[in-house]
Amino acid sequence: MGNQTDNTLRIGQSEVITSRIGVGAMTWGDPLLIPRFDPARLGCGLADSKEEQEKAVDVSIAAGVNFIDTAAMYGMGASELRVGELTKDKPVVLATKFPLRFRPWESSMLKDLNGSLSRLGRASIDLYQLHYPFPWLTTSNVMNQMADAVQAGQIRAIGVSNFSAKQMREAHAILAKRKIPLASNQVEYSLLHRKPEINGVLDACRELGITLIAYMPLAMGVLTGKYTVTIRPTGMRRRMSRFRGNKLAAVIQIVSMLRDIGDRHSKTPAQVALRWLLQHDNVLPIPGAKNAAQASENAGTLSFTLSDSEFDALGWATLQWQKK
Ligand SMILES: NC(=O)c1ccc[n+]([C@@H]2O[C@H](COP(=O)([O-])OP(=O)(O)OC[C@H]3O[C@@H](n4cnc5c(N)ncnc54)[C@H](OP(=O)(O)O)[C@@H]3O)[C@@H](O)[C@H]2O)c1
Repeated sequence: MGNQTDNTLRIGQSEVITSRIGVGAMTWGDPLLIPRFDPARLGCGLADSKEEQEKAVDVSIAAGVNFIDTAAMYGMGASELRVGELTKDKPVVLATKFPLRFRPWESSMLKDLNGSLSRLGRASIDLYQLHYPFPWLTTSNVMNQMADAVQAGQIRAIGVSNFSAKQMREAHAILAKRKIPLASNQVEYSLLHRKPEINGVLDACRELGITLIAYMPLAMGVLTGKYTVTIRPTGMRRRMSRFRGNKLAAVIQIVSMLRDIGDRHSKTPAQVALRWLLQHDNVLPIPGAKNAAQASENAGTLSFTLSDSEFDALGWATLQWQKK
């Protein structure tokens, strides 16, 4: 285990230590901002009221969850702004991502970094991540700019997101020349999306000591078991195959298994699905929470353990989602 305990995790080989589960703040912030491209508003819909967002932070911290993930792109800065307001003087580990916009003609990270620091109201960001391997941002250029920002004290740890194993290795090697670790790669990982296990990303993370941050760990909410043929989700996700037809029927079978296992521990399907991820060495799930009840339920993942046979049974039952 080395860099983790039951309740804490060092992000990669960096100095940043965090809780074993985080909170995704993608849907938070001013609902009136209408950006051209916004995965939060398009994909999952918006979080509940400002008060609920505030309570979500407080119940998370009270339950020992201190890692909050956002991105400049979410609501064109609105999510970062809200996270900054809600976490002022609070003991949290903040992760954000750049760029703010798709701007192929501009390859400077510094402007985005200063914007994020200002919206978050911080002098430094705990984990700063490149959101995607955008073709116009060469890895060498960006990693060196991020390394400069670490040396300037503006970033504590460097991460990437949506990087393949090959891209991760390249970024890791460039940073190694500056004697700075690549701390994390944030990719989609859940019981319904197990590609990191076969595309080399999980293996490369283990080999290089990089933390895998698992986004969409509840498969956009379908693993909670609350969506059925008649109860449909908000946002574009309703069009995704896992929310419809035969694929939804297959998911409902998995949810039934999550419920059976959860009943043995007095836990919900969502908590069992998150616990399965958390029991992977050096994997940090960041479920999105729209309100205090969701944040509290997700934090409850910390307070039980799946047996080896329960963990293995879930792995076998969802093997088909390694390829989907
Ligand atoms: N790096 C990237 O490219 C990338 C991409 C996507 C996301 N992310 C990050 O990953 C985080 C999580 O991903 P995600 O929010 O898309 O997917 P997710 O965590 O799989 O699902 C979150 C959604 O599930 C529902 N939910 C969460 N907890 C629940 C609970 N306990 N009970 C019932 N419903 C619950 C909520 O929506 P409803 O209540 O409306 O169902 C919530 O918005 C994001 O906030 C973001 O920080 C990163």
